[in-house]
Amino acid sequence: MKSNGKAVLTYGDGKSVDLPVYSGSIGPDVIDIRSLGQTGMFTYDPGFLATASCQSAITYIDGDAGLLYYRGYPIEQLAQNADFMEVCYLLLNGELPTASQRAAFESNIRSHTMVHDQLTNFFKGFRRDAHPMAVMVGVVGALSAFYHDALSITNAEHRAISATRLLAKVPTIAAMCYRYNTGLPFMYPRNDLSYAANFLYMMFATPCEEYVPNPVLVRAFDRILTLHADHEQNASTSTVRLAGSSGANPFACIAAGIAALWGPAHGGANEAVLKQLSEIGDVSQVGKYIARAKDKNDSFRLMGFGHRVYKNMDPRAGVMRQTCHEVLTELGLHDDPMFKLALELERIALEDDYFISKKLYPNVDFYSGIVLRALGIPVSMFTAVFALGRTVGWITQWNEMISDPEQKIGRPRQLYVGPPKRDWVPVNRRG
Ligand code: SDX
Repeated sequence: MKSNGKAVLTYGDGKSVDLPVYSGSIGPDVIDIRSLGQTGMFTYDPGFLATASCQSAITYIDGDAGLLYYRGYPIEQLAQNADFMEVCYLLLNGELPTASQRAAFESNIRSHTMVHDQLTNFFKGFRRDAHPMAVMVGVVGALSAFYHDALSITNAEHRAISATRLLAKVPTIAAMCYRYNTGLPFMYPRNDLSYAANFLYMMFATPCEEYVPNPVLVRAFDRILTLHADHEQNASTSTVRLAGSSGANPFACIAAGIAALWGPAHGGANEAVLKQLSEIGDVSQVGKYIARAKDKNDSFRLMGFGHRVYKNMDPRAGVMRQTCHEVLTELGLHDDPMFKLALELERIALEDDYFISKKLYPNVDFYSGIVLRALGIPVSMFTAVFALGRTVGWITQWNEMISDPEQKIGRPRQLYVGPPKRDWVPVNRRG
């Protein structure tokens, strides 16, 4: 971060305060408001639309241009050329790995994919029809009950061990959620398979016969994980950072991130998109739902459309649409009615003045559900898959926050609009 002059805030009867302006490497400058205290005022920014909560070197988004870079590399190039393990190394370490670095990284992850056998007892406490995200929050949070040996967050080695454990075990736990839901036995991870293939194996293999993951589907799933890996200071990542700022252990912080991701306005949107497409049912109904989305008196929103930052096409949505086409073609489902409906819905929406004027474009969640469904993953597992991809981003952001000398416990203030001071009144004098 480098100094770039100042902003002058004038307030009250001709008072003023100088506020330093800083520039990053690319993107908007920031105004440092930390000296506002002398004015006796706070800034007011519900939802933090205009607030930079930290400086970060991990992910860059340009919402107007529709750009997304992980450590400077455009998402389109990574989705095309890298695999998820390489992207995980890049996010966590800041540089693309050499062949030997990548081999060592992947080997380390593979040797931590099993979970403590007692962890399976946690599942037995849930109803079989529990939502997988409810189970994920509980079981990931419970990991801190098993790994007391590396919870000192100021110890970089402990942080690295916890990062490895989380990256390696979240797929196993996510697959266990699905298996528990369906009454199928848990499948142990296989260390001869890639990260993506191993997840599909743990999801769909059975002890009764050999299961060979389809390489086209594995590549597609691997790319889906890359597309979800990180996304700057989104709601769940900000939750992880805020939880981490109190010194909470990494497992508790990631569980908090999973909980925040579950919301339908955030990572829960992929599940909501599929439900909405099912509700729309047919292209002939698209106009009715577009009208509802535009009706200010109707709380209905077109799920998978719009974004807090992107006011252009979410670059991930374009890659996801292409992945959708590849998977459906591989499976002989290129006439999949759900995909055709989604393409038509996108076409109509993008020609509609309401969506154009409000800059509402498809986001990462619009097509992801169709791909996941084609892979055989049930709708209830969609957000768990999002959490699986985002775990590396949460860990990376948490690590950066812990290592940032400027970071302290997060504690926003408020504009108080409640009653001024008043005295207690005995019950017989109320009403
Ligand atoms: C993710 O932040 C991230 O980076 C998140 C994420 C990540 O990788 O971590 O990218 C993942 O969460 C993607 C977003 C998934 N959510 C959805 O698809 C749910 C549907 N989208 C909306 O709920 C909404 O677009 C949000 C929540 C995504 C963004 O909301 P904002 O930025 O708060 O925008 P807004 O609610 O202020 O909307 C601006 C206007 C409003 O109209 P007016 O009040 O100005 O008249 O646009 C309208 C909204 O009513 N609008 C929509 C709409 N989204 C916004 N109208 C119809 N359908 C929609 N989907």
